[in-house]
Amino acid sequence: MFLMNTYPRKDIAFVRGENSCLFDKNGKRYIDFLSGIAVNTLGYSHQKLKNALKNQIDNILHTSNLYENPWQEEVASKLISFFGESGKVFFCNSGTEANEAAIKLTRKYFKDKGQDKYRIITFKGGFHGRTMGSLSATPRPNLHQGFEPMLDGFDYAEFNDIDSVKSLITEKTAGIMIEAIQGEGGINEANLDFLKALENLCKENNVLLILDEVQAGMGRTGKFFAYQHAGIKPDIITMAKGLGSGLPIGAVIAKDEVAESFGVGTHGATFGGNALSCMAASITLDEIPSLMEQIPSKEVIFRKALEHFGLLKGKGLMLGLDIKKDCKEISNELHKRGLVINCTATSVLRMLPPLVITKEEIEEGLDILTSTLKEFL
Ligand SMILES: Cc1ncc(COP(=O)(O)O)c(C=O)c1O
Repeated sequence: MFLMNTYPRKDIAFVRGENSCLFDKNGKRYIDFLSGIAVNTLGYSHQKLKNALKNQIDNILHTSNLYENPWQEEVASKLISFFGESGKVFFCNSGTEANEAAIKLTRKYFKDKGQDKYRIITFKGGFHGRTMGSLSATPRPNLHQGFEPMLDGFDYAEFNDIDSVKSLITEKTAGIMIEAIQGEGGINEANLDFLKALENLCKENNVLLILDEVQAGMGRTGKFFAYQHAGIKPDIITMAKGLGSGLPIGAVIAKDEVAESFGVGTHGATFGGNALSCMAASITLDEIPSLMEQIPSKEVIFRKALEHFGLLKGKGLMLGLDIKKDCKEISNELHKRGLVINCTATSVLRMLPPLVITKEEIEEGLDILTSTLKEFL
């Protein structure tokens, strides 16, 4: 009644979680194959996370970025070790903010070098967020509608088509920004060769490679960052969603030389990397390596059950089943039967469960899914 009508909300109110299950206000139990759209990495019963957060609440929630922040230092050092190169981190609160920071950093890096390069190539089917910069980077006319004009400086290439990218590169091109697996676009994987070719193209043309890992990162695909399957080395990486296991936190990693362009006063975020969010991120990052080890065997369970129902796309615990027809109705039915799942790109049933989901929970969810698919397809 008092909310702006920006979301197509289902008529279900979840009030409690347990392991990787949700309970609505009537006490009905659901298996969670969505984790709040790739957010609740550690599910709902992670005692270590809960204890650390309770303790942090008793100490302090927020101190501002005007003072030293040991929690940020700790999370940044863990992120850099996953990155595997030397680099620096900037904290914000969401995916779109991380991408805004990446866009600004890319522009500033070339300005600082005295080069007039500011344009960024992004990809059709991609999604980078809803604020004006990230929205302009998102090639979706339906999302732009009513908000025009978009910001200048973005060129849209075909996904997985290196010639299309080449044809857009000019001396003004500063960056190429891509999701290694497009999430909102319907779980579309970038070919590993394509990612390698992009890396080379960036090197040849003095262009920064920016990986949007907001949805695919944080161990979800079996590597900490999804681009790591291709063995490439981006210049800037953005992340959010699963980083805080439910607390809002976003981050940008940039290689040292690029990071230098964010000097004092150039960029900021009041809440970015506050004590509570960083505590959540710190615990999440500690847990991810052991969870990643279990991802291939969990993926196999999904694949075995679903592959013959349609095109199963994605990697690890970021999967999409393209059922080649509108999946809204089936998604509603699945919720009625106790499975939380999402329908994206019209015909793709998207699965992004908590990384802690157990094999038993996966099987229980898949039983609901496969029996329903048999009726509907
Ligand atoms: C790849 C990607 N980038 C950016 C965003 C925007 O993140 P947020 O909603 O936290 O602003 C999303 C959200 O779905 C995303 O999937």
